[in-house]
Amino acid sequence: MKKTLAIAVMGVAAAVVTVIGFGGSAIGSMRERQQSEKAARGAYLVKIMGCNDCHTPWKMGANGPEPDMTRMLSGHPEQVGRLKAVRAPEGWEWSAAPTNTAFSGAWGVSYTANLTPDQNTGLGIWTEDMFISAIRTGRHMGVSRPINPPMPWPMYRNATDDDLKALYAYLRTIQPVTNHVPDYQPPAEATTSEAR
Ligand code: HEC
Repeated sequence: MKKTLAIAVMGVAAAVVTVIGFGGSAIGSMRERQQSEKAARGAYLVKIMGCNDCHTPWKMGANGPEPDMTRMLSGHPEQVGRLKAVRAPEGWEWSAAPTNTAFSGAWGVSYTANLTPDQNTGLGIWTEDMFISAIRTGRHMGVSRPINPPMPWPMYRNATDDDLKALYAYLRTIQPVTNHVPDYQPPAEATTSEAR
C-alpha cells in the first residue's frame, strides 16, 4: 500500500517536472519563433525600403553596377575613405560616389553608416530604442547632430513601431563587417579643407 502510494507520488512529481520542463521550453521556442518571424519581416522591409541601395557599396557586375552583397549593409568603404566635396554642375543639385555610399551636396559630404552588428564600427552598441529614435527624430544615434540627406528618415519615420523593431531585429542577425565609415563633413569643413 505504502509502496503504491510512493510510486504514485513519484509519478505525479515526474509529471509535474515534465510539464514545467515542456512548458518552459515551449515558451522559449515560442519566443525564438516570434523573434525569427520579426527578423524575417525586417529582411523583407530592408529589401523593399531600399537600404541596400545606399548602405551596401556598389560594384560593377555582369549587367552593370549592383550592390556588392558580400559587403551587405556595411556602409561607405573605409578603403575609399573621405572624398572631396564637389559642386554639382549647373542645373544639378548633388553628386554620388560610384559606390553610391557617399554623397556631396549643400549639406556637406555624407557617408552611409555601417548597419551590420559589428561592435566597434557598426550598430553593435545600438539599442532598439536608439535605432527607433534615430529614424523618428532624424538625429544621429537618436540624440545628436541631424542625419543628413539622402537618408530618407523623413519618410521612414512614418513606419510603425513594429516595423522599426522588425528592421532592428533583422539588422542584429546579419553578418558583422568591420568597416570604419568616415565622419560626416559639414559644408564649411568640406569646402575649406577640400578642393572645390
Ligand atoms: C538614399 C540613400 C539611403 C537609403 C535608401 C537609406 N539610407 Fe540610411 N543613411 C544614408 C546616409 C547618407 C546616411 C548618413 C547620414 C549622415 O551621416 O548624416 C545614413 C545613415 C543611416 C543611419 C545612421 C543614423 C545615425 O544615427 O547616424 C541608420 C541607422 C540608417 N541610415 C538606416 C537605414 C535603414 C534601416 C535603411 C533602409 C530602411 C536606410 N538607412 C536607407 C542614406 C540612405
